[in-house]
Amino acid sequence: MPTILVTGGAGYVGSHTCVELLNSGYDVISVDNCCNSSSESLRRIEMITGKKIDFYEADIRSYKMLYKIFKENKIDAVIHFAGLKAVRESVLNPLLYYDNNLCGTINLCNIMNKFGIKRIVFSSSATVYSDSSAPPFDEEMPTGEVSNPYGRSKYVIEEILKDLKTSDNAWSISVLRYFNPVGAHESGTIGEDPLGIPNNLMPFVTKVALGLLPCLTIFSKDYKTRDGTCIRDYIHVVDLAKGHLLALKEVLTKNTIDIYNLGTGVGCSVLELVEAFEEACNVKINYKIGGKRQGDLPIVYANVSKAENKLGFKTSRSIKKMCEDSFNWQIKNPLGYRQFVK
Ligand code: NAD
Ligand code: UD1
Repeated sequence: MPTILVTGGAGYVGSHTCVELLNSGYDVISVDNCCNSSSESLRRIEMITGKKIDFYEADIRSYKMLYKIFKENKIDAVIHFAGLKAVRESVLNPLLYYDNNLCGTINLCNIMNKFGIKRIVFSSSATVYSDSSAPPFDEEMPTGEVSNPYGRSKYVIEEILKDLKTSDNAWSISVLRYFNPVGAHESGTIGEDPLGIPNNLMPFVTKVALGLLPCLTIFSKDYKTRDGTCIRDYIHVVDLAKGHLLALKEVLTKNTIDIYNLGTGVGCSVLELVEAFEEACNVKINYKIGGKRQGDLPIVYANVSKAENKLGFKTSRSIKKMCEDSFNWQIKNPLGYRQFVK
């Protein structure tokens, strides 16, 4: 079976994808500097799968380290998750985001070029779509009108990858635009582990449910939506991880550049998610209605026809399952991975 280098493999989406890769028989090498994760997640991946994962604790911006990894291993393709992802932090510190996300990706592509390994799956985001487009978003819609450095870094990397393909047709590239990943592996051993107070809705809800945070603030009930709260396309992280394997298969077997939305194609409002969580987990979520968060769009959901038709992508995990698995992870790991790390 092919050997896959997973950058950012200790992170949320990366760790779930490593599980799916190992369970499907791939050999996996991971590089992560653990700036937003813990190597404990890799130990958990090995526990779940009973398989070994080769781990390099390193920064993808280090040419020397990436060179060493490619020299020591026969790598067939790369799944590239490593990046910073906090929108607000990116507004406060744009250079950090451009340095980490752009320089890291350029360094990675340079080394791949050097070793003649030109197959890559890249984590992009629904955030690249323009505010002016009407949902559902499809891959042909314009991109680039982004309002923050994080989103811009994703847009620019997409453009860099297109340029790379134009310059050298030997590259095979799959760009995956995620909508809102939530949930966790159903064992509850790996999951999303944000540092500090979560920015994203689901980890905030699980912490309120467990009493670790007092109250959720719903960012406004004044949107023009069915209940006044924003609508998003939540996708279970295991369904998302499985999507990576389909994209990987495509880059391993075809010479292509393709962009795919990965979502469910169904929108769910903030209030609907909170209600679904209460019902699925039999808990009450203490919440209040607050003001709008800058940059939030009222309605974001995907048109997933392309991924369905070309990759055979299909999600199977419901909102209920997303809530149950998120809560199960939080209950089993109230302090995330940190309580297990010395
Ligand atoms: P995450 O922070 O959990 O994982 C990213 C991993 O990359 C972390 O383990 C971090 O330590 C590592 N990393 C960051 N910079 C690095 C560097 N320079 N060198 C080595 N490792 C580095 O985030 P995630 O939710 O798993 O997201 C994975 C990817 O998907 C990111 O690129 C993110 O932008 C993208 N994405 C995520 C979401 C989401 O909601 N989770 C949505 C759209 C896109
Ligand atoms: C956010 C980012 C997006 C990024 C994604 C993954 C913004 C504007 N967008 O997406 O670029 O790719 O995270 O990291 O930051 N909500 C509340 N209360 C909360 C938290 C969230 O009401 O405490 C609401 C938000 O207004 C939104 C929904 O819940 O309507 C989902 O929020 P979130 O999980 O942060 O995801 P996005 O905003 O879609």
